[in-house]
Formats: sequence, C-alpha cells, structure tokens
Amino acid sequence: MAHAPSDTGGLMRIPWKLKSLVFAILDATHAGGLLAWLQKHVTRRSRVAFSTLSPDWLFHESVIELSPGKRLLEFGAGKSLVQNLYLSQVCRSQTVVDIVPLFDRQLANEAAQRISYITGRDLPPITSLADLAALNISYIAPLDVARSALPDNAFDVCVSTNTMEHIPEAQLGAILVELRRILVPGGLVSAIIDYSDHYSHTDPSIGRLNFLRFSDAEFRRFNHRSHFQNRLRHHDYERLFRDAGFVVERDEVLGWAELPDAISCDDPRRRDPTFAATAGRFVARSPGR
Ligand SMILES: C[S@@+](CC[C@H](N)C(=O)[O-])C[C@H]1O[C@@H](n2cnc3c(N)ncnc32)[C@H](O)[C@@H]1O
Repeated sequence: MAHAPSDTGGLMRIPWKLKSLVFAILDATHAGGLLAWLQKHVTRRSRVAFSTLSPDWLFHESVIELSPGKRLLEFGAGKSLVQNLYLSQVCRSQTVVDIVPLFDRQLANEAAQRISYITGRDLPPITSLADLAALNISYIAPLDVARSALPDNAFDVCVSTNTMEHIPEAQLGAILVELRRILVPGGLVSAIIDYSDHYSHTDPSIGRLNFLRFSDAEFRRFNHRSHFQNRLRHHDYERLFRDAGFVVERDEVLGWAELPDAISCDDPRRRDPTFAATAGRFVARSPGR
C-alpha cells in the first residue's frame, strides 16, 4: 500500500517584470541548470502536487483509447514525466522526448508515489531512467522533435501538454510536418495548450491575457529564450494543424479571460471569437501521405 505523499505549500508570487529580468539574466548567462534549480527549490513551479487525476491526462487517455496501436510519442515531456507514468496503463509503449534533458528522478518518484496512492495501482520506484523500462517508457533528450530522426510510421498517437505555446510559430509548423512523417496514416495528435500569459501565473496583479496589450516589438523585451511565449491564439493552432495537412477532428476552448483595455482595436486577430481564450485542446488526425 502506498503512503500519502507529503503536502506542499503555496507558490511564490513574483512581480512579472522582475521575473522577466531574471529570465533575461539566465538567457545571457546560459544558466539553464540554475533555472531548473530555482523552479524546484525557490519558486517551486516544478513541484509534484496533485491529489486527483489531472483532466489533461484523462483527456489524452480518452484519445489514446481511440488508437488501435497505442504506441505513443510525447514531445515536451518536462521533469517528472507524471503524465507518462499515468498513461503507462493505456499505452503499449511510450517514447518521451524533450529538447532539454530535464528528467528529475526525485520528482518522477514522487509522481509515481502519488499516482499509486490515488489510483491504487502499483508503480515501481523510479530511481533512474532505467526504471522507466518496466513501464515501456523510453526517454530521449536532448531531442528536437522538429528534426527527430525517428523512423517513419513509428507512432499511433502523439500527445503534448502545455508545450506548444513555448515554441515559435515557424518551428511549430516544422514539428507538425515531422509528426505527419512519424505517425502512422490515421495517427492522432492530442494537444493541450495554455494560451494565458504565463507571467500571470505567479503575479496575480496582472490579468491572464496581460501580454496581449503589447505589440510584437514591445513584447520582445519581456520574452526570453528560457521562458518563451509565442502568444498564438486558439485559431492560430487550428490553422497550423490544417496547414500541415492534419484534419482537426475536435477543438475546444477550455477557459476565457477578460482582454486588457489597451489592445489595439485594429489587431485583426481580435476579430476571431477565440481571441480571449486562455487554454484549449485539439484532436487532429493525420490522413496519411
Ligand atoms: C512548459 S514545459 C511542459 C512540460 C510538461 N509537458 C508539463 O506539462 O509539465 C515545455 C517542455 O517542452 C520542451 N520543448 C520545447 N521545444 C521542444 C522541441 N522542439 N522538441 C522537444 N521538446 C521541446 C521544453 O524543453 C520543456 O520541457
């Protein structure tokens, strides 16, 4: 029987412009390792804290159940691989990639303990990457999924959670073209995307869509490699999927927020009804080549 993992405290509040300055310094000093350490021990953004199953995992699970082969790819896996630990119960195999090798065995082990506690499922202790093999999970990092060199038709389904909003638009296009190649004809992409201003996650003094008050040139000052936000909206992703040849079978907006007062009325994107969405999800099917 698994033990209840210890409780966690609240997140740190950080004025967003100060946070932007910290990211600018981290970019200039190439201190990616320091960022991971700060997120784990200071801001605690990477902590494993859940007492129920995430609706994101349940959504991906429902899509995987539609896939006959159940060989899964995830890009942008992050540190704890919590989603993969949960999804191991429905996948035949998982290949989990990240452009940065962020896997943290302590966070993964905590995640496994919590999932065991909530579901009653026996998950093995995670002391190293090798322990993932028992769950048919292979972790590959660093790997840019846009240039994966993975074999053609290797996967039946691809999932991605809270990752696409961090990737520049041109690279997203390249990733979707690569997914067409490595997914089987008829393969599915299940994507969950956070469209909110991530600075608002740790600064309650700004709105969830605060970043939309800035022009591209203005926002560049606050947008750093180590915390990149593309500010694309729901309809932009729909277009990207279609441009790459996917058929969008399902798209949903998951939340809305008030727009800042200062947005230009001339911004053509504002005319789309989903402009003020804060999150969304897609199921897209590759029609084959
Ligand atoms: C915000 S994290 C999300 C992590 C995890 N999916 C979650 O929900 O906690 C985004 C991840 O995407 C990864 N990433 C960004 N661009 C990528 C690319 N081109 N190929 C693979 N991974 C990428 C980053 O390194 C990072 O780990």
